[in-house]
Amino acid sequence: MKKLFSTCGAAFAALLLAAPIQASAENRITRLADVPEDFEFYPLPPGEGVDEVYYGCIACHSLRTVTNGGYSRRVWDELLDWMVEDQGMMVPEPDIREIMLDYLATYIDEDWEG
Ligand code: HEC
Repeated sequence: MKKLFSTCGAAFAALLLAAPIQASAENRITRLADVPEDFEFYPLPPGEGVDEVYYGCIACHSLRTVTNGGYSRRVWDELLDWMVEDQGMMVPEPDIREIMLDYLATYIDEDWEG
């Protein structure tokens, strides 16, 4: 029994290490070519807010539309307004909009190579 527990513990630890693709503004992926194809939100690069952006934008178009170009925060801000005003996107809750804008401006910024 003891043996079984320690085996499970090791497997669990390995799972924890392998599971999330860690990303922060500092060690972010800066080009599409480096995003792992098996990442659940591919082609978006990993980062905080990736799920909000994925589910908020996939309704209408490919996420490639989002990863095609990198923009400044100001441009993403305007693009979000444009999605709502002219393209029929539902008005996002203010806190969700902030999360999406933070993600876009941080991870798909002007240094991004799509
Ligand atoms: C309700 C539908 C809808 C949703 C939701 C939506 N979009 Fe769009 N988006 C469109 C349409 C339609 C176009 C194409 C517009 C065109 O080219 O005339 C577009 C185009 C774009 C483009 C290309 C702009 C360009 O320069 O041509 C970007 C970038 C973009 N969307 C970003 C986003 C992001 C980021 C989200 C999620 C936060 C999002 N969209 C959600 C409908 C949507």
